[in-house]
Amino acid sequence: MTQPMKILRVDSSAKTENSESRRLTDRIIDGLKTNGKSLDVTVRDLNQSLPQVNTAWIEANNTPSDDHNDEHKKTLALSNTLVGEIEAADTLIIGVALYNFSITASLKLWIDLVCRARKTFAYVDGSPKGLMTGKKAIICFASGGTPFESNIDFASGYLDIFLVSLGSQMSHSFQLTSTSWMINH
Ligand SMILES: Cc1cc2nc3c(=O)[nH]c(=O)nc-3n(C[C@H](O)[C@H](O)[C@H](O)COP(=O)(O)O)c2cc1C
Repeated sequence: MTQPMKILRVDSSAKTENSESRRLTDRIIDGLKTNGKSLDVTVRDLNQSLPQVNTAWIEANNTPSDDHNDEHKKTLALSNTLVGEIEAADTLIIGVALYNFSITASLKLWIDLVCRARKTFAYVDGSPKGLMTGKKAIICFASGGTPFESNIDFASGYLDIFLVSLGSQMSHSFQLTSTSWMINH
C-alpha cells in the first residue's frame, strides 16, 4: 500500500474567515485529494498565538540537549513540538498573508521557534547546513496588491532562505494578488 503524503499545513493569516491565503491552501489540499492522493494532514494555525523567544529560550537552545535540565526542557517543549511537526512531514504547505511587505508576525514567531542549531541546521566546515533535507514546500501567497517576488515583496525571498536553511526548498508557489481590490470593488 502506498504511504500517505504527510503534509504540514501552516496558516499565518490573522483572519480565520475570508482569508485568501487559507482559501488557496484549502484548494491545494482539495486538489491533491481529487487527484487521488492519500493525505495525512497536520494543521498548525499560527493564529493561536506563539510566544516570542526570550533569554531563557536562547539559553536553553544554546545548551546541548544532553545537558538539559527540567527548566530547559520545559522552555523548549513547544519548539520541540513544532520542529517535530516539520520532521514528520514530507510536504510543507504554508499560507502566507502579506503584511506590510513581509510575513505576518505570527509566521516570524514560528520561524524563530523552529530554526534550531544542532536540530534543524548545523555548522559543517564553518558553514550552516540544513538537517531537514528532501522536503517539498508549497507557498500560498496572498497580498492586497504587492506582486509576488517583486522588489517590494520581502516575504517570498525570506521564506526561500528559511526553507534552504532547513535543507529544503520552495518547490511550488501559488499567488493571489489584488485581494483587497477583489474585496473592496
Ligand atoms: C496589517 C495588514 C497589512 C497589510 N499589508 C499589505 C502590504 O504591505 N502589501 C499588500 O499588497 N497587501 C497588504 N495587506 C493586504 C493583505 O496582504 C491581503 O488582504 C491578503 O489577502 C492577506 O491574506 P489573507 O486574505 O489570507 O488574510 C495587508 C493587510 C493587513 C491586514
